[in-house]
Amino acid sequence: MCGIVGIVGQSAVAPLIVDALKRLEYRGYDSAGVATIEAGQLARRRAEGKLVNLEKRLKSEPLDGTIGIGHTRWATHGVPNETNAHPHFSGDVAIVHNGIIENFAELREELKADGYEFTSQTDTEVVAHLVARELRRGARPVDAAHRALQRLDGAFALAIMFRGDDDLIIGARNGPPLAVGHGEGEMFLGSDAIALAPFTNSITYLEDGDWAVVRRNHVQIYDMNGEPVERQRRQSIGTSLLVDKGNHRHFMEKEIHEQPEVISHTLAHYLDFVSGKSKAVEMPFDFARIDRLAISACGTAFLAGSIGKYWFERFARLPVDIDVASEFRYREMPISPDSAGLFVSQSGETADTLASLRYCRKAGIPISSIVNVRESTMARESDGIFPTLAGPEIGVASTKAFTCQLSVLAALAVRAAAERGKISADEEKVLVRHLSEAPRFASQVLKLDKQIERVAHHLASVRHVLYLGRDTNYPLAMEGALKLKEISYIHAEGYAAGELKHGPIALIDENMPVIVIAPHDRIFEKTVSNMQEVAARGGKIILITDKAGAEAATVRTLETIVLPDVPEIIAPIIYALPIQMLAYFTAVFMGTDVDQPRNLAKSVTVE
Ligand code: AGP
Repeated sequence: MCGIVGIVGQSAVAPLIVDALKRLEYRGYDSAGVATIEAGQLARRRAEGKLVNLEKRLKSEPLDGTIGIGHTRWATHGVPNETNAHPHFSGDVAIVHNGIIENFAELREELKADGYEFTSQTDTEVVAHLVARELRRGARPVDAAHRALQRLDGAFALAIMFRGDDDLIIGARNGPPLAVGHGEGEMFLGSDAIALAPFTNSITYLEDGDWAVVRRNHVQIYDMNGEPVERQRRQSIGTSLLVDKGNHRHFMEKEIHEQPEVISHTLAHYLDFVSGKSKAVEMPFDFARIDRLAISACGTAFLAGSIGKYWFERFARLPVDIDVASEFRYREMPISPDSAGLFVSQSGETADTLASLRYCRKAGIPISSIVNVRESTMARESDGIFPTLAGPEIGVASTKAFTCQLSVLAALAVRAAAERGKISADEEKVLVRHLSEAPRFASQVLKLDKQIERVAHHLASVRHVLYLGRDTNYPLAMEGALKLKEISYIHAEGYAAGELKHGPIALIDENMPVIVIAPHDRIFEKTVSNMQEVAARGGKIILITDKAGAEAATVRTLETIVLPDVPEIIAPIIYALPIQMLAYFTAVFMGTDVDQPRNLAKSVTVE
């Protein structure tokens, strides 16, 4: 999941490329690089680590070329250092790549036998050598690129530049997204429309198997057989403004605080709070006619979908199959012809989720997706989309996108329940009213920051944390653990509270904090029993509950975080906030890179 950019421009392109890369840093930030053609020669600057290092490098050693390619990397093959940073060169060829070349080992051996030397550990370098070898064999640049592309297996987006032609960049896509941006006497390539937003909003997305010959005044797209193809040119809605942190220390903090507002926008898109009914948002299928819903997603989006399963089954009596997308895509599950597919993704680009979507597409069922990026590949490949109105989420740890996904899922579950005749009009009104209260309760929870910060101070000194919950709080417990792991690097696990005695209880001792998510609901007493089991073994309980729960919990806790008393349907949305805040404050105490934690990327476009 790297970010790539190419510009055939009018003036020095390196600063523009860096500007575009800044917008792509969410895709990876292990290293970055830019190559241009300077006085007829390929030249590059690369730097390990974040983009600021590349910027510093370019300041002391500027590049002036009017054509160039750039890259921000999330390492797959080879450690993140300068040697492995893109662009990679071979002879007259410079290349940047996002994805994985699956047959790179075999190609590498073949090229080595042909005398090519490898300077990096990347899979990308084989592509540079393949193109260079075709040039050496006498092919013209465009044909050399086409022939090389035909040798590649795997998922890739590529931009290729040639010494000797400063009016040509070849772009190619097979898997990860790639867009052409159309300018006046200048052309652009980028991993997404947002990267190109400062330059143009006239965009053509390449489709899988497409490759494009990009020149200052002309773009021609071909399919893998070399046949010219027409692809729709559209106006992008990508904003050219770089989102900033406002007066927050981190994007994650800002995004946590934006939740009351974005949850409200999202719910209002689906629900009419005046009539107490669902709005007639366009649907690619009819809830009353389907017999199952297949949901697939990764990471936090998967956990949102897992909570959605409880809602669809409880309120709408609609059975849901849900799986993490990396399993879903390969486990050859039978798909009922009367079912529908629902894919959940902030980015709309996650490779495994996209593959699950395509699996369902092949099975012939209607496809819908809950996405935050409306121009994403998933959105484009769906029969209908359910947007989350979270706005750009920059922090790698998903917060506002998660609660907006929950908001959409809850609203859809209510609609499904009404359309399937499982709730009366009055019951629908009550549920819609309850959902409308979510933003207000979310604001109240944000005010608990001081207490949550105190608990986080304690967490910052431990090595392991257990999260427990029942019902919708079970996936939420997993989300709490995921959040803590990814930004504080503290090991954490989320378990169904009832599973505790089937193994994890062995971990409990006086050093183990156990975070229990338990509003005072119909199964609260069951969770209290599990807390007793923890307390009996010296475990330190941090209970997140409401006033009634705090009074009814007959267990000594290290800390009890008391949330407002909220209706059952919005509990997962509201209880998500303290677990996000706990992870956030813990990471701040640990001094980690909160917005860009190690080894991660915001958009995961490789398997
Ligand atoms: C969440 O905090 C993660 N960084 C990660 O699990 C993320 O939710 C996952 O990669 C899915 O991304 P998507 O929503 O863009 O598909």
